[in-house]
Amino acid sequence: MTFKGKYAATGRELRVRCMRVRLPSLESHFILIEDVSSQAEAGRQRAQWRQMLAHDFRNPLMIAHGTLCAVKSMGTGHPLAPDDLALIEGGIRNCRRLDALIGTYLDTERLEDGAMPVHAGSVDLEALLHGVVDEFRPAARTGGRVLTCAVPKALAARADPELLRRALANILGNALKFTPAGGLVAVDAAPRGRDVVIRVADNGQGITPEDLPRIFERYYQGEDNERHHGLGLGLTFCRAAMRAMGGEVEVESERGRGAVFTLRLPSAAPEGAP
Ligand SMILES: Nc1ncnc2c1ncn2[C@@H]1O[C@H](COP(=O)(O)OP(=O)(O)OP(=O)(O)O)[C@@H](O)[C@H]1O
Ligand SMILES: [Mg+2]
Repeated sequence: MTFKGKYAATGRELRVRCMRVRLPSLESHFILIEDVSSQAEAGRQRAQWRQMLAHDFRNPLMIAHGTLCAVKSMGTGHPLAPDDLALIEGGIRNCRRLDALIGTYLDTERLEDGAMPVHAGSVDLEALLHGVVDEFRPAARTGGRVLTCAVPKALAARADPELLRRALANILGNALKFTPAGGLVAVDAAPRGRDVVIRVADNGQGITPEDLPRIFERYYQGEDNERHHGLGLGLTFCRAAMRAMGGEVEVESERGRGAVFTLRLPSAAPEGAP
């Protein structure tokens, strides 16, 4: 039994836990009283910061985005010169990127705090994986990479389709970002015991042994990646999303030989199956 509360005499936040310890020769009850004031204060500050990002940052950003979109579509009374149009489009793109980064940050926090609802059900992997891969085809084509997707029919996982789609999009986005022109990015899926595994393999630059154990950490980016955009949050989000669905994400890589990301999820009967 656990309960939390403020001790009126000192104003400190306390957590009180009652525990029963049973040994062969003895059974005893303990009451553990912890002062959790500093954790509670840190939690409040994190919640305030989230609130500020979600509203005080996002609202003006969306207003700037809306204004730029309006100028682009209606013009300023004069036809827009190509340079001006390019500037406005750059502004719109960057507003969207910043909004997406704020979204990833907030969702990672919510997932790690268990505060994001996870709607898990049977997900048809063939449809979902092909859908995500198709979104990346234009980027792959423009960058001169080959993108393949091979998923057996009627393979289903127990997952939240939106969370899985976003986790995969992050990993696929990375695979394309870190694979030079002429490279290959291959997505496949297969049953493994009671689970299903989805693999995203590329033959790009790979990951150094120093970076490999750290890439899922918040804000961690490989040292030679300054020229790539990003915050180092994509994989942190992926891991939090996979764990929230009862799965896991792992990586194997060798520098210069590409990387293989494996997403494991509990398998499920295909939707509509008896
Ligand atoms: N397929 C890959 N090949 C090589 N390195 C990778 C690959 N995927 C991830 N990494 C390394 O892991 C780091 C962390 O990835 P993560 O997705 O978290 O951040 P990011 O892509 O740098 O930024 P963000 O996802 O926030 O836009 C990357 O900066 C890169 O060093
Ligand atoms: Mg990324």
